[in-house]
Amino acid sequence: MTNNKKYSCIIFIIIVLLTIYFTSDIIFSKTLLKFIIDTTSNQSIQHSEDYIKNHVQEPSDELNAHWLRLIKHYVPLPLESGYGSHKLALLAALLLTAKDGGPVVEMGCGYHSTLLLHQLAVDRQKRYVLSTDTDREWLLKFQNNMSSSLHQFRFINRVSEWNSVGNDRPRWSIAFIDHKPGERRVVDIIRLINMTDLIIVHDSETASYQYERGLQYYPYRYHYTYLSTATDVASRTKATLLSNIKYLLELTINLKVPKQ
Ligand SMILES: *[C@@H]1O[C@H](CO)[C@@H](O)[C@H](O)[C@H]1NC(C)=O
Ligand SMILES: *[C@@H]1O[C@H](CO)[C@@H](O)[C@H](O)[C@H]1NC(C)=O
Ligand SMILES: *[C@@H]1O[C@H](CO)[C@@H](O)[C@H](O)[C@H]1NC(C)=O
Repeated sequence: MTNNKKYSCIIFIIIVLLTIYFTSDIIFSKTLLKFIIDTTSNQSIQHSEDYIKNHVQEPSDELNAHWLRLIKHYVPLPLESGYGSHKLALLAALLLTAKDGGPVVEMGCGYHSTLLLHQLAVDRQKRYVLSTDTDREWLLKFQNNMSSSLHQFRFINRVSEWNSVGNDRPRWSIAFIDHKPGERRVVDIIRLINMTDLIIVHDSETASYQYERGLQYYPYRYHYTYLSTATDVASRTKATLLSNIKYLLELTINLKVPKQ
């Protein structure tokens, strides 16, 4: 063989190999894609939870699908605009802080917040939750049903007892503010600022609570108004977390998640 023929031969072989490589790659990708689509539609809630946490800042149809899936799973649709309007903010915050995020304190129990905290934070994420309320009967409804070493309940008998709520731990991942008397809320928004990564405040369209007096100290804030009862999410230090929660909540507006 002359050198020229040798080279032609080698080039021919390379072309054949490349062709095989690329066509099989396309077949491989198609199979992979089909597999991904199949498992995407069948995957566990856990997978969606992990996906949201790991890809929250990568806009895609897949991210939207996972977020919608979790909303359907944890929050009944259409979204409730009154008592349960904070539920999406709580859901987004819990998902993005998952297991390692740490404990949650709930000031003021309710069917929407206490149940979600129990179902997701306690049962699935194995986080410590402290639920508190000034109404003993109301508190017992939840306590009788859900109390465990991971989910504790505390009855607040006098207003001054709010002063010590949360002091038994150095740091809270999330504090949920929905307690009585109403004028006490802003006091605790200010009091908890150095102990919590994030606060979620219910009824934040209501001027009489004077939330602004407390929220002004929080550099990172989002005011969510998709539902007729507004919710605020605020943090002193967690800029990225706050912006990720904001992103998920804004998605509910862009995706027009059904509401009442
Ligand atoms: C996904 O679920 C559908 C219906 O439940 C089933 O027919 C299909 O085989 C599942 N696909 C995979 C990859 O598990
Ligand atoms: C706890 O309360 C929820 C909501 O009211 C209810 O669905 C559930 O059945 C209760 N569980 C027990 C063990 O009472
Ligand atoms: C929180 O920390 C800041 C700065 O470290 C301090 O100025 C402020 O008084 C603290 N607030 C509370 C309520 O502890």
